[in-house]
Amino acid sequence: MSNRGNFGSKLGIVLATAGSAVGLGNVWRFPYMTGQNGGAAFLMIYIVCIFLLGVPGMLSEFIIGRHGQANAASAYDKLSGGRPWKLVGYLGIVTGTIILGFYAVVAGWCLEYLFASLSARTLGDAQYVSEYFGNFVSNWWRPMVWGVAFLLLTHVVVVRGVRQGIEKASKWLMPILLVLLVVLVVASCMLPGAMEGVSFLLKPDFSKIDSHVMLEALGQAFFSLSLGTACLCTYASYFSKETNLLHSAVQIAFLDTFVAILSGLMIFPAAASVGISPDSGPSLIFITLPNVFQQAFGSQPVVGYVISVMFYALLVFAALTSTISMHEIGTAFFTEELHLPRRKSAWIITATTAVICVLCAWSVGAFSGLQVLGMSLMDCCDGLTANVLLPLGGMLACLFVGWYVPQKVVRDEFTNQETVNRRFFQIFIFAARYICPLGILFVFLHQLGVL
Ligand code: PHE
Repeated sequence: MSNRGNFGSKLGIVLATAGSAVGLGNVWRFPYMTGQNGGAAFLMIYIVCIFLLGVPGMLSEFIIGRHGQANAASAYDKLSGGRPWKLVGYLGIVTGTIILGFYAVVAGWCLEYLFASLSARTLGDAQYVSEYFGNFVSNWWRPMVWGVAFLLLTHVVVVRGVRQGIEKASKWLMPILLVLLVVLVVASCMLPGAMEGVSFLLKPDFSKIDSHVMLEALGQAFFSLSLGTACLCTYASYFSKETNLLHSAVQIAFLDTFVAILSGLMIFPAAASVGISPDSGPSLIFITLPNVFQQAFGSQPVVGYVISVMFYALLVFAALTSTISMHEIGTAFFTEELHLPRRKSAWIITATTAVICVLCAWSVGAFSGLQVLGMSLMDCCDGLTANVLLPLGGMLACLFVGWYVPQKVVRDEFTNQETVNRRFFQIFIFAARYICPLGILFVFLHQLGVL
């Protein structure tokens, strides 16, 4: 397909996949999920989910995508000869679109904080910082404008294919983000009373583990790995034949977990120090971080200022590499399946997600009546995708690769035509057939009270 592969280098695409995984899921969602689910015990289950269920799931999506060399739906279609498996591809596309809609709301919050930190508007005492967030979110137009602006930014990148530039930038910006996170972890841990936050994250209290905590950890693991939306499948369709799928999956899983843990170590000590409850929900990083910037660097306000601006800029960038990947799932689908020009396909996704974004932004602010099943629309989209659709999508990808696709095809993709990782193939097949699907089923049934 000649109009495919408008990604830059082949190495770049693996980097872009890491960019998709590392995003607000790590820095924003992971700390608040951990905070709401009891801390260290959640973290342990999360790590198990990442490596035991997530890595085989990622590999399955990689295999489907690279073999299919097409958008998610037609990749499933090609490998199954038109059987209902194609629906799994559709499911991934719908899931990715819903996530992009509500993710853009939070990405918009980051944009607001970037501009606010430039003019030092977020700085003040703890009370002021928390009021600032409350006032911003409940404004009827500001969160909406920032969210839609973020979607337009994503749109421009996806349409103009400046991804090569993004990939080059990732090579620099990702390491800078890591360094900055480490600096902030140190700063946060040095605040008075910070150790309470560290032990919250690292000392497990097993009595906190219940079926819901398991489901949330599973959902968070899949959300963070971008697994279950067909995003990995779409990106893998641009991988080269030489890409080592196992190495890439394991490296991305490690990097992603590392960033999540650093984010936790940045947030919880600071929250403990300023007396913010770790279970404050989605607002957690936005009401905690400005305190770190201000208190930890109180004696050198210029340093605090520079670090805060850099941090929000990098957060926006990390979010952008993730939103691009979600956008690409649907854009590739419409372009290839309906033979629409790429520009038009991109507009369909941008317009649909903009509607979801505006409604979600209102549901947590100005129009709190926008509720489904007693939850704000935003929480509902988040819960439905992370706790149901992503695990379901990941499970189906594993079942497809484990049981349906001819083993020879799977083996050839996994081992790059018998040149790498031959020893691990049986382990992978076992995980894809049994461990991953049964593990996810167990968590689902446990949540429903059946087990
Ligand atoms: N993994 C991304 C993050 O952690 C979010 C994402 C989910 C991206 C699903 C693509 C698909 O921020």
